[in-house]
Amino acid sequence: MTRTLILLFHPDIETSTVNAALQAAARTVPGTLVVDIQARYPDGIIDGLGDGEAEARVLLDADRIVLQFPVRWYSTPALLKAWQDAVLTRMYYVHAQTEGDQLVGTPLMVAATAGNTAAAYGRGGANHFTMDELLAPLKATALRCGLPWHPPHLVFRAGRLEPAELAAASDSYVRALQDFIAATPARVRQAA
Ligand SMILES: Cc1cc2nc3c(=O)[nH]c(=O)nc-3n(C[C@H](O)[C@H](O)[C@H](O)COP(=O)(O)O)c2cc1C
Repeated sequence: MTRTLILLFHPDIETSTVNAALQAAARTVPGTLVVDIQARYPDGIIDGLGDGEAEARVLLDADRIVLQFPVRWYSTPALLKAWQDAVLTRMYYVHAQTEGDQLVGTPLMVAATAGNTAAAYGRGGANHFTMDELLAPLKATALRCGLPWHPPHLVFRAGRLEPAELAAASDSYVRALQDFIAATPARVRQAA
């Protein structure tokens, strides 16, 4: 069974409709592990030492990684940036040989939900920038870290979805995860 690690960055999953439904759907896909990062760090503080070591271990156990989050102010929730600052800094700048280099080659997919419409994120739309453009810093980070970028799974009009649309979004996420798994074979690991 291959390991698909889904890191969920929702500031308050108890009040979530869409990410709550998506993460429940993701758990039905064999080989997935969903980790609620906000639940692990309720105060939003992640240190690069003990926390960083634990998070690095979880990443290094994965065959592929999904970053799931709601769009906040045309960007990621603050906790995802805190996670990058603590965990990726540690792995790629402090323990590059034993951690960062070992993560190289692990594919990465973003699963984001946005309140506005797809058209608003179109060229010339109300938001002025496409979602691909807004996700560029994450893509640059993935490239810097040697994590092959898989096309993102996006849900628009989050918060305004009818029950049938929410069910369709969940089904589409399951298919996206299955496609991601099929496109990215399990990593071959060196014996310790
Ligand atoms: C503080 C805040 C900022 C937000 N910023 C954006 C934004 O920049 N673009 C957008 O499309 N939606 C934005 N939204 C809407 C959220 O993305 C949307 O409510 C969320 O994806 C719904 O998912 P959930 O049901 O899991 O919370 C924002 C919501 C909040 C509360």
